[in-house]
Amino acid sequence: MEFICKQSELEIPVKFIRERIEQKHIAFPVLLLSGEMGSGKTTFTSTFVKSYNPGVWVNSPSFNLMNEYDLQNGLSIYHFDLYRLHFADELEDLGFEEYWGKRGISIVEWWEIAKDYFLEEVIQLEFSVVDEFTRKIVVK
Ligand SMILES: Nc1ncnc2c1ncn2[C@@H]1O[C@H](COP(=O)(O)OP(=O)(O)OP(=O)(O)O)[C@@H](O)[C@H]1O
Ligand SMILES: [Mg+2]
Repeated sequence: MEFICKQSELEIPVKFIRERIEQKHIAFPVLLLSGEMGSGKTTFTSTFVKSYNPGVWVNSPSFNLMNEYDLQNGLSIYHFDLYRLHFADELEDLGFEEYWGKRGISIVEWWEIAKDYFLEEVIQLEFSVVDEFTRKIVVK
């Protein structure tokens, strides 16, 4: 599935992803987001999180590589950005494999360094820039 959308239209791919999660009864979904810097991964994540809890402020995980968003229904979304990770063995100390596919909804930007951790079913989204205000999102 492919979406071409402006920032104000991100609810459309968000709805599609939420429906896929529900239809497939995925207990602990893992969304892997790829695409160059500025292609809209964090902006999509913000729209996704706000679709569950409009009140939250979503920004890029910086210091601890993960932000947790409480969705007030007993569920959390864990948003990871592994950009600053340089070696796969740094992951062992972080304990992220305790989250991925095991609790809540995980959304991971710059996940490629950890690709061996994602052998189970995942939803992949590939972002690319069409023009200043438009992005393409391919869902796999
Ligand atoms: N259709 C669109 N969808 C998403 N972002 C858009 C769109 N149009 C313009 N933008 C802008 O593009 C930028 C995307 O930045 P964002 O931080 O989401 O990218 P990113 O892929 O997470 O980058 P990084 O790899 O650095 O984390 C934002 O400034 C956003 O306002
Ligand atoms: Mg980002």
